[in-house]
Amino acid sequence: MKKEKKEKEEKKTSKKKKVSEELDRFPLFARISENEAARVYIECQNKALKALGYTEHGLAHVRIVVERTRYILETLGEDDHTIDLAITAAWLHDIGNIVNRVDHSQSGALMAFQLLNEMKVPASDIAPIICAIGNHDEGNGVPVNRISAALILADKSDVRRSRVQQEDESLFDIHDRVNFSATEAEIKINRDHSGIKLKLHVDTRYGEIGEYFEIFMDRMLLCKRAANSLGLNFHLIINEMSLM
Ligand SMILES: [Fe+2]
Ligand SMILES: [Fe+2]
Repeated sequence: MKKEKKEKEEKKTSKKKKVSEELDRFPLFARISENEAARVYIECQNKALKALGYTEHGLAHVRIVVERTRYILETLGEDDHTIDLAITAAWLHDIGNIVNRVDHSQSGALMAFQLLNEMKVPASDIAPIICAIGNHDEGNGVPVNRISAALILADKSDVRRSRVQQEDESLFDIHDRVNFSATEAEIKINRDHSGIKLKLHVDTRYGEIGEYFEIFMDRMLLCKRAANSLGLNFHLIINEMSLM
């Protein structure tokens, strides 16, 4: 019993230590992820998108984008400050959907400016964040720097069953079918840092691979440009087939 209690306490202490180390490494992200207004915008924009029939863009999506943005830049050896700015951009990247889905990257960049400016973040840190947010969408986004390229790859690779918000399968549209069909999605940079792989497993009972390309061709081309700007080749592998 005593041993169990000790183990529990040790686990708790090491978790606390890990959290405090993360706060030291990424201080801006620590502040923005605790910011009440940012959280409200993330949750409300997802409600608005759900009402419009879109897939999930809330905290679950944002957390995955943060995690993948960090993975990409950390693997490529970026410094902690750059990663801090990048994951802050990832946390805020979709808040503009609360204004309108159309041009949400631009409205989101302006909202992020307001939030960060109020938090007295220096302009030299705000600039790359709003630049990445304003360039994350396939409509008019361009991987203008390494932060923006990582954010694009992290965002566009989030295809998964749990993003479907429509509960009635008979009402699924093509986006629902494609997301529902994706049972596994993994993004991985290879050992020699020559390429980045988006590996998907698609259950073709729900969505055809052709449908994936029908809706995601522009996104995949943007991912290719983003990967290339990071000095990586982009590979798309669906059901073990190399498609790009
Ligand atoms: Fe977006
Ligand atoms: Fe997104």
